[in-house]
Amino acid sequence: MNILVTGGAGFIGSHLVDGLVEAGHHVVVVDNLSTGCREHVHDQAVFYEMDILQKDELARIFANGAFDIVFHEAAQTLVPYSMEHPREDAELNIMGLLNVLELCRQFGVKKFLFSSSAAVYGDNVQVPLAENAPLQPTSFYGLTKVTAEKYIQMYHDVFGLSYAILRYSNVYGERQGSHGEGGVVYIFSDAIAEGREITIFGDGDQSRDFIYVKDVVRANMAAMDETAPSGIYNISTNIETTVNALKEILFYFSQTAVPVSYAEARSGDIYRSALDNALAKQTLRWRPATKLLEGLQQTYFYFAGRKQT
Ligand SMILES: NC(=O)c1ccc[n+]([C@@H]2O[C@H](COP(=O)([O-])OP(=O)(O)OC[C@H]3O[C@@H](n4cnc5c(N)ncnc54)[C@H](O)[C@@H]3O)[C@@H](O)[C@H]2O)c1
Repeated sequence: MNILVTGGAGFIGSHLVDGLVEAGHHVVVVDNLSTGCREHVHDQAVFYEMDILQKDELARIFANGAFDIVFHEAAQTLVPYSMEHPREDAELNIMGLLNVLELCRQFGVKKFLFSSSAAVYGDNVQVPLAENAPLQPTSFYGLTKVTAEKYIQMYHDVFGLSYAILRYSNVYGERQGSHGEGGVVYIFSDAIAEGREITIFGDGDQSRDFIYVKDVVRANMAAMDETAPSGIYNISTNIETTVNALKEILFYFSQTAVPVSYAEARSGDIYRSALDNALAKQTLRWRPATKLLEGLQQTYFYFAGRKQT
């Protein structure tokens, strides 16, 4: 199939492109490299360095691409940035999305897959949260994800565009940067590998549902299947791990402990997080395959190994 991945040079997008190319698809990537990395894009994918806000240039890619499927990964992903710059956050996460959605409609794309987030649920302590839990985002980032989801559903209802909205919990793995939602694994790994102090925002007992990036790729590939019904799916492990526990596991792999300081919790951050993944398991016939210790070990040694090269 002909597939477009926006943000395909990014952390999740580049792993997704690898999975799609390896499955034999023809993949085109559009990415402005604001946080992505050209070297992470598979050499068999066609790469365009381009901003999704440049609508006319994007239209030319669609005109030539005959895309069956579009994965939309390009986004402003930082919660703190969204609190300081709500306008810029909305411009990319809503207007950028609309550029891509409009072109999907005009060029007859068969299915649109969107990376949403646990941030849509906000600070709801009734964990684990299923897809029908109330949407109460506590950050502008979460608000743009809620709004994006509603646009996508309306494109489906009005124009018949099939879709899958995947609400990721905290994704971690190789190639992750310091930015983004799951960045704590990278930030801690990098600091521990260098023997630097780590800072924990809040008391460290806040929990996250950490999911390995290759499991997220498998979920996307299951959801792109035409037999998978349009809908919203949590993509998660349904397991809570505290930030303090994460630090201890990484200390174990590194065989060292670095100093730890605690700072005030950040505005917009949620306290507990775990997403119920029963619907994805049942409907997409997908389940996370990587155990936390296995995924963290691979990720830690990937980052530690980069220090020695
Ligand atoms: N990492 C997580 O834990 C997580 C959790 C939930 C949802 N998500 C969502 O998954 C998606 C991918 O996130 P990621 O962690 O891989 O982030 P990332 O920053 O690594 O990837 C985003 C990519 O989009 C590109 N990009 C940004 N603005 C662009 C623009 N205007 N035009 C073209 N390209 C642009 C960046 O250069 C980057 O390559 C995002 O939509 C994010 O909100 C991520």
